[in-house]
Amino acid sequence: MNSPANIVLIIGGGIAAYRALELIRLLVKQGHAVHPVLTRGAREFITPLSAAALAGRKAHDDLFSLTDEVEMGHIRLAREADMVVVAPATANLMARAAHGLADDLATAVLLATDAPVLFAPAMNPHMWAHAATCANVELLRRRGAHFIGPEQGEVACGEHGEGRMAEPQDIATRVQEMLAMGHVAGADGPLAGQRVLITAGPTHEPIDPVRVLANRSSGRMGYALAQAARKMGAEVVLVSGPVALAAPEGVSLVRVETAQEMLQAVMQALPVDMAVFTAAVADWRVRFPAAQKLKKGAEGPPVLELEENPDILATVAALPGEQRPRLVVGFAAETQAVEEHARAKLARKGADVMVANDVSPRTGILGGTETELLILAADGQAQRLERASKEVNARRLMQHLAAMLAERGGEGSAGHEHASDG
Ligand code: CTP
Repeated sequence: MNSPANIVLIIGGGIAAYRALELIRLLVKQGHAVHPVLTRGAREFITPLSAAALAGRKAHDDLFSLTDEVEMGHIRLAREADMVVVAPATANLMARAAHGLADDLATAVLLATDAPVLFAPAMNPHMWAHAATCANVELLRRRGAHFIGPEQGEVACGEHGEGRMAEPQDIATRVQEMLAMGHVAGADGPLAGQRVLITAGPTHEPIDPVRVLANRSSGRMGYALAQAARKMGAEVVLVSGPVALAAPEGVSLVRVETAQEMLQAVMQALPVDMAVFTAAVADWRVRFPAAQKLKKGAEGPPVLELEENPDILATVAALPGEQRPRLVVGFAAETQAVEEHARAKLARKGADVMVANDVSPRTGILGGTETELLILAADGQAQRLERASKEVNARRLMQHLAAMLAERGGEGSAGHEHASDG
């Protein structure tokens, strides 16, 4: 079974809306948090109360509900969703989604989300077969949307043909499959064909066979970025120091311990299109780690002689020509003069982008679950990502980086031969 997901279920205005209630029940039974959104049309068929009762949480039905808007309700719903399901998806709702309208909560969520979207169309067979609907479905499909149904059968108006919404059970199964695949935008994703390398976690530098020099990095940001890149269609290599996290679905994970091993694994993963260095690499290692466990003795505590570790980011940023990723991204955790220090780091290490965060204790970011980021580009541009969970900001950041990579042009190197293959 997958871990519970946040699913936004948009219920369109059609007679099949009542079958969406069964879908809520099934998704809740699978352990997911279902956030129902009813269009104005849907409210002609079912009540927000019945959807809320089954979901066990609030059903949303109005774009400009005051309390929701105070917390930017629709943006939050859209951003925190792991998946958006539209059932029933009416011809009108799909037309509005295809053309980027955002005149109610349902379409605003569809426009603001970067989570995978599954449409379960339901309508009169003539409407389904109409060239306008076909063109809209095609447009949505090309942008990466998924579809289930409609099926053959008798539709509400008594006509027979293709237009009946897929069975709620089949929709629930498809949702489960898509979540299990860590669902990938695949060939349609903004990073399709691109190879992305991410370093994450701390490094452990041995003192003796049982002791290490370490730091408190959890690896959470790097893992979330790897997952986000994968969902956007990239081929992802995640080089990780010791952390307590499971490998994100579909990502190839290389586990390392020391900074030197991390450097080696990174060089083997090249060439890549984008490299993102989130790892908290130990600045120093013990020059002569003991071959046997150090024992307490008459000579007192050992004195550790340290030497500097290689700078992995700077090494990769300095590679010549095609060996250098088209976009080299570093992270700078600072406690004061954040922008100034991060800009200096950007220049010193030769990166294209430095993502700064303020880890001074008052922010609660270090070791916490939320983060606030400042994206600094070598060309002087800056963009702030407001405070949100590390996962949400990882997604936003990866979208940003994907757009920057696309601006730089060039062909993706996914699927080509890599040093690590040999
Ligand atoms: N980094 C790296 N290899 C190292 C040290 C750092 O790849 N040996 C990368 C980190 O992954 C991060 C960026 O460089 O993306 C900045 O790391 P940070 O520890 O903030 O920089 P330092 O070089 O240690 O600078 P300072 O000591 O001044 O904070």
